Amino acid sequence: MTTNGQGDLRSGETSGLGHLMREGVDVSHGPILYLDDITVSFDGFRALNGLSLTVDAGELRCIIGPNGAGKTTMMDVITGKTRPDSGSAFFGQTIDLTRFTEAEIAHMGIGRKFQKPTVFENLTVVENLELAMKTDKRVRASLRAKLSKEDLGRIGETLELIRLETEAGRPAGTLSHGQKQWLEIGMLLMQEPRLLLLDEPAAGMTDEETSRTAELFRKLAGTHTLVVVEHDMDFIAEISRIVTVLHEGSVLAEGPMDVVKNDERVIEVYLGR
Ligand SMILES: Nc1ncnc2c1ncn2[C@@H]1O[C@H](COP(=O)(O)OP(=O)(O)OP(=O)(O)O)[C@@H](O)[C@H]1O
Ligand SMILES: [Mg+2]
Repeated sequence: MTTNGQGDLRSGETSGLGHLMREGVDVSHGPILYLDDITVSFDGFRALNGLSLTVDAGELRCIIGPNGAGKTTMMDVITGKTRPDSGSAFFGQTIDLTRFTEAEIAHMGIGRKFQKPTVFENLTVVENLELAMKTDKRVRASLRAKLSKEDLGRIGETLELIRLETEAGRPAGTLSHGQKQWLEIGMLLMQEPRLLLLDEPAAGMTDEETSRTAELFRKLAGTHTLVVVEHDMDFIAEISRIVTVLHEGSVLAEGPMDVVKNDERVIEVYLGR
Protein backbone atom coordinates (compact mmCIF):
# COMPACT_ATOMS: atom_id res chain seq x y z
CA MET A 1 0.00 0.00 0.00
CA THR A 2 1.27 3.41 -0.82
CA THR A 3 0.25 6.81 0.38
CA ASN A 4 1.40 10.20 -0.72
CA GLY A 5 3.22 12.43 1.72
CA GLN A 6 0.08 14.23 2.83
CA GLY A 7 -1.97 11.12 3.46
CA ASP A 8 0.89 9.65 5.37
CA LEU A 9 1.15 12.72 7.53
CA ARG A 10 -2.54 12.74 8.44
CA SER A 11 -2.79 9.04 9.09
CA GLY A 12 0.21 9.26 11.41
CA GLU A 13 -1.45 11.72 13.74
CA THR A 14 -4.28 10.57 15.94
CA SER A 15 -5.67 14.04 16.52
CA GLY A 16 -5.26 15.30 12.95
CA LEU A 17 -2.91 17.94 14.35
CA GLY A 18 -0.22 16.81 11.94
CA HIS A 19 -1.85 18.66 9.13
CA LEU A 20 -2.14 21.84 11.16
CA MET A 21 1.42 21.50 12.37
CA ARG A 22 3.03 21.29 8.97
CA GLU A 23 0.77 23.50 6.89
CA GLY A 24 -0.74 25.74 9.49
CA VAL A 25 1.98 28.20 10.45
CA ASP A 26 0.06 31.39 9.86
CA VAL A 27 2.51 34.18 9.13
CA SER A 28 -0.02 36.37 7.31
CA HIS A 29 0.58 39.27 9.68
CA GLY A 30 4.36 39.07 9.28
CA PRO A 31 5.71 37.57 12.49
CA ILE A 32 6.58 33.87 12.76
CA LEU A 33 7.57 34.03 16.42
CA TYR A 34 5.98 35.97 19.26
CA LEU A 35 7.23 35.79 22.82
CA ASP A 36 5.24 37.92 25.23
CA ASP A 37 6.18 38.61 28.83
CA ILE A 38 7.85 35.22 29.36
CA THR A 39 9.11 34.36 32.81
CA VAL A 40 11.13 31.25 33.71
CA SER A 41 12.38 30.71 37.26
CA PHE A 42 14.89 28.15 38.54
CA ASP A 43 14.67 27.91 42.34
CA GLY A 44 13.42 31.46 42.56
CA PHE A 45 16.07 32.83 40.19
CA ARG A 46 14.53 34.44 37.11
CA ALA A 47 16.44 33.20 34.07
CA LEU A 48 13.83 34.93 31.89
CA ASN A 49 12.12 37.95 33.33
CA GLY A 50 9.31 39.43 31.25
CA LEU A 51 10.96 38.61 27.93
CA SER A 52 9.07 39.88 24.87
CA LEU A 53 10.35 39.40 21.36
CA THR A 54 8.84 39.32 17.87
CA VAL A 55 10.60 37.89 14.82
CA ASP A 56 9.21 38.31 11.30
CA ALA A 57 9.06 35.44 8.82
CA GLY A 58 12.21 35.37 6.70
CA GLU A 59 14.22 37.43 9.18
CA LEU A 60 17.79 36.70 10.22
CA ARG A 61 17.75 37.83 13.85
CA CYS A 62 20.84 37.92 16.02
CA ILE A 63 20.64 37.59 19.78
CA ILE A 64 23.59 38.74 21.88
CA GLY A 65 24.17 39.32 25.56
CA PRO A 66 26.43 38.35 28.46
CA ASN A 67 26.76 34.83 29.88
CA GLY A 68 23.66 33.92 31.85
CA ALA A 69 21.48 36.52 30.08
CA GLY A 70 18.92 33.83 29.22
CA LYS A 71 19.67 33.24 25.53
CA THR A 72 19.74 29.44 25.68
CA THR A 73 16.79 29.41 28.08
CA MET A 74 14.82 31.40 25.51
CA MET A 75 15.53 28.69 22.92
CA ASP A 76 14.50 26.06 25.48
CA VAL A 77 11.13 27.79 25.82
CA ILE A 78 10.58 28.06 22.05
CA THR A 79 11.41 24.38 21.51
CA GLY A 80 9.27 23.12 24.40
CA LYS A 81 12.20 21.91 26.50
CA THR A 82 11.33 24.37 29.26
CA ARG A 83 7.81 25.51 30.15
CA PRO A 84 7.50 29.18 31.04
CA ASP A 85 5.99 30.05 34.44
CA SER A 86 4.04 32.79 32.73
CA GLY A 87 3.77 34.57 29.41
CA SER A 88 2.99 33.31 25.94
CA ALA A 89 4.97 31.88 23.04
CA PHE A 90 3.37 31.65 19.60
CA PHE A 91 4.61 30.15 16.34
CA GLY A 92 2.81 32.25 13.73
CA GLN A 93 -0.60 33.64 14.61
CA THR A 94 -2.21 30.51 15.93
CA ILE A 95 0.17 27.90 17.36
CA ASP A 96 0.63 28.19 21.12
CA LEU A 97 4.04 26.57 21.64
CA THR A 98 3.46 26.08 25.36
CA ARG A 99 0.82 23.43 24.56
CA PHE A 100 3.13 21.08 22.63
CA THR A 101 5.96 18.67 23.37
CA GLU A 102 9.51 19.06 22.10
CA ALA A 103 8.94 16.38 19.45
CA GLU A 104 5.72 17.99 18.24
CA ILE A 105 7.38 21.39 17.99
CA ALA A 106 10.28 19.95 15.99
CA HIS A 107 7.75 18.31 13.69
CA MET A 108 5.87 21.60 13.23
CA GLY A 109 8.95 23.07 11.62
CA ILE A 110 11.17 24.53 14.33
CA GLY A 111 14.72 23.18 14.00
CA ARG A 112 17.37 23.65 16.63
CA LYS A 113 21.12 23.46 16.43
CA PHE A 114 22.95 22.99 19.71
CA GLN A 115 26.53 24.13 20.10
CA LYS A 116 28.24 20.76 19.81
CA PRO A 117 27.89 19.05 16.43
CA THR A 118 26.03 15.75 16.67
CA VAL A 119 26.59 14.04 13.34
CA PHE A 120 26.96 10.28 12.89
CA GLU A 121 30.72 10.00 12.62
CA ASN A 122 30.82 6.56 10.99
CA LEU A 123 28.34 7.43 8.28
CA THR A 124 29.28 9.41 5.20
CA VAL A 125 28.18 12.97 4.67
CA VAL A 126 25.47 11.93 2.24
CA GLU A 127 24.26 9.11 4.52
CA ASN A 128 23.88 11.62 7.36
CA LEU A 129 21.68 13.78 5.15
CA GLU A 130 19.60 10.77 4.05
CA LEU A 131 19.09 9.73 7.63
CA ALA A 132 17.98 13.24 8.61
CA MET A 133 15.44 13.19 5.80
CA LYS A 134 14.11 9.77 6.80
CA THR A 135 13.69 10.54 10.47
CA ASP A 136 11.16 13.04 9.23
CA LYS A 137 7.77 11.45 9.84
CA ARG A 138 6.53 12.44 6.42
CA VAL A 139 9.03 10.11 4.79
CA ARG A 140 7.95 6.74 6.04
CA ALA A 141 10.53 4.73 4.11
CA SER A 142 12.89 2.24 5.65
CA LEU A 143 16.52 3.25 5.54
CA ARG A 144 17.21 0.84 2.72
CA ALA A 145 14.30 1.98 0.57
CA LYS A 146 15.33 3.71 -2.62
CA LEU A 147 15.30 7.47 -2.63
CA SER A 148 13.10 9.22 -5.14
CA LYS A 149 14.56 11.54 -7.76
CA GLU A 150 13.17 14.44 -5.81
CA ASP A 151 14.86 13.26 -2.59
CA LEU A 152 18.19 12.90 -4.39
CA GLY A 153 17.73 16.37 -5.83
CA ARG A 154 17.18 17.83 -2.38
CA ILE A 155 20.26 16.10 -1.03
CA GLY A 156 22.30 17.50 -3.94
CA GLU A 157 21.01 21.02 -3.34
CA THR A 158 21.76 20.79 0.36
CA LEU A 159 25.31 19.49 -0.27
CA GLU A 160 25.92 22.46 -2.51
CA LEU A 161 24.47 24.92 -0.01
CA ILE A 162 26.64 23.63 2.85
CA ARG A 163 29.64 23.35 0.51
CA LEU A 164 30.27 19.66 1.07
CA GLU A 165 29.72 18.31 -2.47
CA THR A 166 33.30 17.14 -2.77
CA GLU A 167 33.14 15.49 0.68
CA ALA A 168 29.87 13.64 0.08
CA GLY A 169 31.41 10.16 0.32
CA ARG A 170 33.64 10.84 3.32
CA PRO A 171 32.84 9.56 6.79
CA ALA A 172 31.55 12.52 8.80
CA GLY A 173 34.10 11.77 11.53
CA THR A 174 36.91 12.87 9.20
CA LEU A 175 35.47 16.35 8.57
CA SER A 176 36.83 19.51 10.19
CA HIS A 177 34.88 21.01 13.10
CA GLY A 178 33.41 23.68 10.82
CA GLN A 179 32.39 21.12 8.19
CA LYS A 180 30.65 19.04 10.86
CA GLN A 181 28.71 22.12 11.93
CA TRP A 182 27.63 22.72 8.32
CA LEU A 183 26.64 19.09 7.95
CA GLU A 184 24.47 19.35 11.03
CA ILE A 185 22.84 22.48 9.61
CA GLY A 186 22.29 20.53 6.39
CA MET A 187 20.65 17.74 8.40
CA LEU A 188 18.28 20.27 9.94
CA LEU A 189 17.49 21.67 6.49
CA MET A 190 16.54 18.21 5.21
CA GLN A 191 13.56 18.38 7.57
CA GLU A 192 12.42 21.64 5.93
CA PRO A 193 12.09 23.80 9.05
CA ARG A 194 10.41 27.19 8.81
CA LEU A 195 12.28 28.53 11.83
CA LEU A 196 15.88 27.66 12.69
CA LEU A 197 17.40 28.33 16.11
CA LEU A 198 21.18 28.30 16.16
CA ASP A 199 23.06 28.51 19.46
CA GLU A 200 26.65 29.74 18.98
CA PRO A 201 27.08 28.17 15.51
CA ALA A 202 30.47 29.80 14.85
CA ALA A 203 32.08 28.75 18.14
CA GLY A 204 35.39 26.97 17.50
CA MET A 205 35.42 27.80 13.79
CA THR A 206 38.38 29.25 11.91
CA ASP A 207 37.95 32.78 10.51
CA GLU A 208 37.38 31.39 7.04
CA GLU A 209 34.78 28.89 8.27
CA THR A 210 33.08 31.70 10.20
CA SER A 211 32.79 33.84 7.05
CA ARG A 212 31.41 30.93 5.09
CA THR A 213 28.85 30.30 7.81
CA ALA A 214 27.80 33.96 7.65
CA GLU A 215 27.40 33.57 3.89
CA LEU A 216 25.29 30.42 4.35
CA PHE A 217 22.98 32.17 6.82
CA ARG A 218 22.52 35.12 4.49
CA LYS A 219 21.52 32.69 1.76
CA LEU A 220 19.03 30.87 4.02
CA ALA A 221 17.35 34.07 5.24
CA GLY A 222 14.20 34.88 3.33
CA THR A 223 13.19 31.31 2.61
CA HIS A 224 13.85 30.46 6.28
CA THR A 225 13.68 32.43 9.49
CA LEU A 226 16.87 32.26 11.53
CA VAL A 227 17.44 33.16 15.16
CA VAL A 228 21.16 33.12 15.86
CA VAL A 229 22.82 33.42 19.26
CA GLU A 230 26.52 34.34 19.07
CA HIS A 231 29.30 35.93 21.11
CA ASP A 232 31.47 36.47 18.02
CA MET A 233 30.81 40.14 17.20
CA ASP A 234 32.62 40.02 13.83
CA PHE A 235 30.29 37.23 12.81
CA ILE A 236 27.25 39.17 14.04
CA ALA A 237 28.41 42.23 12.13
CA GLU A 238 28.74 40.14 8.96
CA ILE A 239 25.24 38.68 9.09
CA SER A 240 23.22 41.07 11.15
CA ARG A 241 20.14 42.97 10.26
CA ILE A 242 18.38 43.44 13.61
CA VAL A 243 20.24 42.57 16.80
CA THR A 244 18.46 41.94 20.10
CA VAL A 245 20.49 42.31 23.28
CA LEU A 246 19.37 40.21 26.25
CA HIS A 247 20.40 41.03 29.79
CA GLU A 248 19.15 39.46 33.01
CA GLY A 249 16.32 37.67 31.25
CA SER A 250 14.81 40.50 29.26
CA VAL A 251 15.49 42.70 26.23
CA LEU A 252 17.94 45.50 26.97
CA ALA A 253 18.19 46.92 23.44
CA GLU A 254 17.18 46.09 19.90
CA GLY A 255 18.09 47.56 16.52
CA PRO A 256 20.68 47.55 13.74
CA MET A 257 24.17 46.48 14.88
CA ASP A 258 25.73 49.94 14.46
CA VAL A 259 23.04 51.49 16.67
CA VAL A 260 23.13 48.73 19.30
CA LYS A 261 26.92 48.72 19.57
CA ASN A 262 26.93 52.42 20.42
CA ASP A 263 24.18 52.07 23.05
CA GLU A 264 25.65 53.08 26.42
CA ARG A 265 23.79 50.35 28.34
CA VAL A 266 24.93 47.66 25.92
CA ILE A 267 28.54 48.82 26.18
CA GLU A 268 28.20 48.81 29.97
CA VAL A 269 26.83 45.27 30.39
CA TYR A 270 28.33 43.47 27.42
CA LEU A 271 30.62 45.02 24.86
CA GLY A 272 32.89 46.86 27.28
CA ARG A 273 34.77 50.05 26.62
N1 LIG B 1 18.15 24.04 34.34
C1 LIG B 1 18.59 25.08 35.03
N2 LIG B 1 18.58 25.08 36.39
C2 LIG B 1 19.00 26.14 37.09
N3 LIG B 1 19.47 27.27 36.54
C3 LIG B 1 19.52 27.34 35.21
C4 LIG B 1 19.09 26.26 34.38
N4 LIG B 1 19.25 26.63 33.07
C5 LIG B 1 19.76 27.87 33.10
N5 LIG B 1 19.92 28.30 34.37
C6 LIG B 1 20.42 29.62 34.77
O1 LIG B 1 19.69 30.60 34.05
C7 LIG B 1 20.51 31.67 33.65
C8 LIG B 1 20.42 31.85 32.15
O2 LIG B 1 21.14 30.80 31.53
P1 LIG B 1 21.28 30.62 29.97
O3 LIG B 1 21.97 29.34 29.75
O4 LIG B 1 19.96 30.82 29.33
O5 LIG B 1 22.22 31.86 29.60
P2 LIG B 1 22.91 32.22 28.21
O6 LIG B 1 22.49 33.62 27.90
O7 LIG B 1 22.63 31.18 27.21
O8 LIG B 1 24.45 32.25 28.61
P3 LIG B 1 25.77 31.80 27.76
O9 LIG B 1 26.11 32.99 26.91
O10 LIG B 1 26.78 31.56 28.82
O11 LIG B 1 25.43 30.57 26.98
C9 LIG B 1 21.92 31.35 34.16
O12 LIG B 1 22.12 32.02 35.37
C10 LIG B 1 21.87 29.85 34.37
O13 LIG B 1 22.76 29.45 35.39
MG1 LIG C 1 23.80 29.77 26.19
